[in-house]
Amino acid sequence: MQDQAEQLRQMMRGRGGGNNGAAPVRNRTRIIAVSSGKGGVGKTNISTALAIAYAKIGKKVILLDADLGLANVNVVMGIIPKYNLYHLMERQRSIKEIILDTEYGVKIVAGASGFSKIANLGEEEREYFIEEMSQLSNADIVIVDTGAGVSDNVISFISAADDAVIVTTPEPTAITDAYSIIKIIAGEVDNSRLSIKLLVNRVQSVKQGKDVAGKIIGIAGQFLNLKVDYLGYVMEDPAVLNAVLRQRPFFDLSPSCKASECIRHIVGRLENIEYKEGSGVTSFLKRMFAKNG
Ligand SMILES: Nc1ncnc2c1ncn2[C@@H]1O[C@H](COP(=O)(O)OP(=O)(O)O)[C@@H](O)[C@H]1O
Ligand SMILES: [Mg+2]
Repeated sequence: MQDQAEQLRQMMRGRGGGNNGAAPVRNRTRIIAVSSGKGGVGKTNISTALAIAYAKIGKKVILLDADLGLANVNVVMGIIPKYNLYHLMERQRSIKEIILDTEYGVKIVAGASGFSKIANLGEEEREYFIEEMSQLSNADIVIVDTGAGVSDNVISFISAADDAVIVTTPEPTAITDAYSIIKIIAGEVDNSRLSIKLLVNRVQSVKQGKDVAGKIIGIAGQFLNLKVDYLGYVMEDPAVLNAVLRQRPFFDLSPSCKASECIRHIVGRLENIEYKEGSGVTSFLKRMFAKNG
């Protein structure tokens, strides 16, 4: 699986071919995987909002719906895609044919609900998938909405990413499941290059977000000797459900609601964090508190 992840990473970053000296070196694509232990914690809504927020600051963004159990990026966006990942995997369509422009300034690759074949790809299929994925590499940001839990598919996408954003809510079951997935990532993925970031969704207060994150980060440090950064929180906000019911992304429908404000802060943090060189939790927290007053 490590080999596959490495290949996927290289291709998605467009490092596959050399630079002849003439062509300018393009900034590489940053791959952000959004995952969780427990389902229903807000991955799809947050992935979609992050994608739109990144587009608003001028980035070329692709949102890849890799939740093969409950694919629903397109539902949240109110789009009925003709083709999705299934058609790519069945080689009925190329990635260029399944990639969709949206009115929100981001491109999406729709997922295929109930389709678990990516987890069990043969050698040849895997090569084909990686080849097709490489064509995503002209994006600045690829946001991958992975499924919940620890299937091979989820772990593959996380291993291919630069950042794993683990979403939890303050619910005890979501917290323990977030810890479980972090533990599995720690065992499966080379943590020296992957940055694990925690996002606490549906909080009632700033303090609640900090407390929940502190618990998980503390335990990960103590028992896994693993550095997990606190990326931030998204407030519980009725505007999110309201937008879901209208099949519009909340960041688009209610750009000044509390949840949208939180998303802008999170993009700010994602952009400030020295994710390559490894930023200390302390300096990160200092910067964060400086921003939040
Ligand atoms: N910040 C929030 N405030 C209020 N409700 C939320 C928030 N985030 C998520 N929800 C609710 O949770 C539901 C599930 O979110 P979703 O993004 O589909 O989760 P996942 O992709 O993790 O399964 C949404 O339809 C919405 O009703
Ligand atoms: Mg989802």
